[in-house]
Amino acid sequence: MKIYFVTTNTGKYEEVKKMLSEHEIIRKDMTYPEIQADTLEEVADFGMEFLSKKLDGKIMLEDSGLFINALNGFPGVYSAYVFKSIGNEGIIKLMAGIEDRRAYFKSVIAFYDGKVRFFEGECNGSISENVRGESGFGYDPIFIPEGEARTFGEMEKEEKNRYSHRGMAVLKLKKFLRV
Ligand code: IMP
Repeated sequence: MKIYFVTTNTGKYEEVKKMLSEHEIIRKDMTYPEIQADTLEEVADFGMEFLSKKLDGKIMLEDSGLFINALNGFPGVYSAYVFKSIGNEGIIKLMAGIEDRRAYFKSVIAFYDGKVRFFEGECNGSISENVRGESGFGYDPIFIPEGEARTFGEMEKEEKNRYSHRGMAVLKLKKFLRV
């Protein structure tokens, strides 16, 4: 199946393309309005509402965020903005002296085939003490998935996909596409 994946993020595109290799995933490097909302679902829904009027065919987008327990879920829906402003070093500084380092990533995929459908995935883990690894993108070098000692930044794409929030959400989409 031919699916347009609308994202300006090359890292996201490559992860998704790898997992959906039986489909033709065409990247559309274009932006859509990302509203200020309380949940990733609302952001994804609004974005898809816009895109479904602009593009013909099957469309997907993905919205994700990092939620840190000790910071009451911050940066959460503000993850992109916070990453651009303070980056991984800034998060490590904010977490200095904080013992509870638990955090999770969440991913929401909106898929449009005449109707909007949502697929979600979460990945529990913790924030590392320092920035580690060169792989991936965004917060990967400071996030250690549960049951691991390495950060996502220290893993290959395939390995990250097996654990990750995006991997889980894509797996659900993959199952749906088979139906
Ligand atoms: P958005 O979904 O494009 O709004 O991205 C939210 C923010 O979270 C961006 O700064 C991303 O770099 C970051 N982010 C989303 N998913 C991941 C991931 O799998 N690893 C690391 N950072 C991520």
